[in-house]
Amino acid sequence: MSTTTLRRLRKNDFLRNWVSQTQLKSKDIIMPFFVVEGKNKKEPIAKMAGVNHFSVDRLIKEISKIKNLNSILLFGLSSKKDNKATFAYRKDAPLQKAIRAVKKEFKDLIVISDVCLCAYTSHGHCGIIKETKGKKHKEIDNDATLKVLAKVALSHAEAGSDLVAPSAMMDGQVKAIRTYLDSYGFNNTGIMAYSAKFASNFYGPFRSALKSTPSFGDRKTYQMDFRNPQEALREIKKDIAEGADIVMVKPALAYLDIIYQAKKNFKVPLAAYSVSGEYSMIKAYSRQSGSKAIEVEKDLVLETITSIKRSGADFIITYWAKEILKWIK
Ligand code: PBG
Ligand code: ZN
Repeated sequence: MSTTTLRRLRKNDFLRNWVSQTQLKSKDIIMPFFVVEGKNKKEPIAKMAGVNHFSVDRLIKEISKIKNLNSILLFGLSSKKDNKATFAYRKDAPLQKAIRAVKKEFKDLIVISDVCLCAYTSHGHCGIIKETKGKKHKEIDNDATLKVLAKVALSHAEAGSDLVAPSAMMDGQVKAIRTYLDSYGFNNTGIMAYSAKFASNFYGPFRSALKSTPSFGDRKTYQMDFRNPQEALREIKKDIAEGADIVMVKPALAYLDIIYQAKKNFKVPLAAYSVSGEYSMIKAYSRQSGSKAIEVEKDLVLETITSIKRSGADFIITYWAKEILKWIK
């Protein structure tokens, strides 16, 4: 007879649940939404099966149907784009309208809004391009971008966001936003910083959903190199020093080591973004299972999202939020 005893506590569901060390809670889950112009729109996003574009009215309807929803992350689409992203800070843009409408309708729902320029620049980059004559390589102008990001954040704060979420990966973006918000009296608007955001190959479906694919080059001069864990910790440390209330690691699944280290090193709430490519990957795998697709997907999702929590994330942004909230209740 073997003396190994570790299987005893795995004997049945009751014991397994009783000794389980990681539980997903509804308050851990942040649900992302894509807001478009117009009325009565709920349009499936081709590359993200199960995710939709919503006009503001339909967004309100959708949210009212989701039980146990604690927090949402809003992205705005824009048909109007220019070199300076001026439509990113308009009061009447879809995102600002959505923030206002959601906060009016659902007082207790935590509204986080994505602050970036890529959906609003004609070239699709997250920053303003430096105008230098005769230069072959176009550069992103860090400090010119900071000014615009601050304006965008202010427009969200004015609309009622509980937290703004800067995702442009410009140096000093948290400080620029914090200072600007404070100067307008928005001391109570929080910042959830995309601190360690990697230049990832997992963003493809999202870019087609947000119509924000860069028209030239890539995002490697501002988003992080996936080979660099130490740099990720420096980014997070810097964002905390600049005033971030919540820090984020993104993507999640291929970056669990970063999440783990971030949690170990910093005592601030930590979010992880399970991105569009992670979503699509599991969707595609599940679909191979034919009639079992739904169960296969559920099991994969719970395993994956639990692994992100187990690694140390306090909050998880996931396109499965609606389903997860049903499954874990
Ligand atoms: C843009 C932004 C991206 C995501 C969130 N904000 C993509 C990018 O940097 O190109 C990715 C989210 C996802 O893939 O689900 N600032
Ligand atoms: Zn961006």
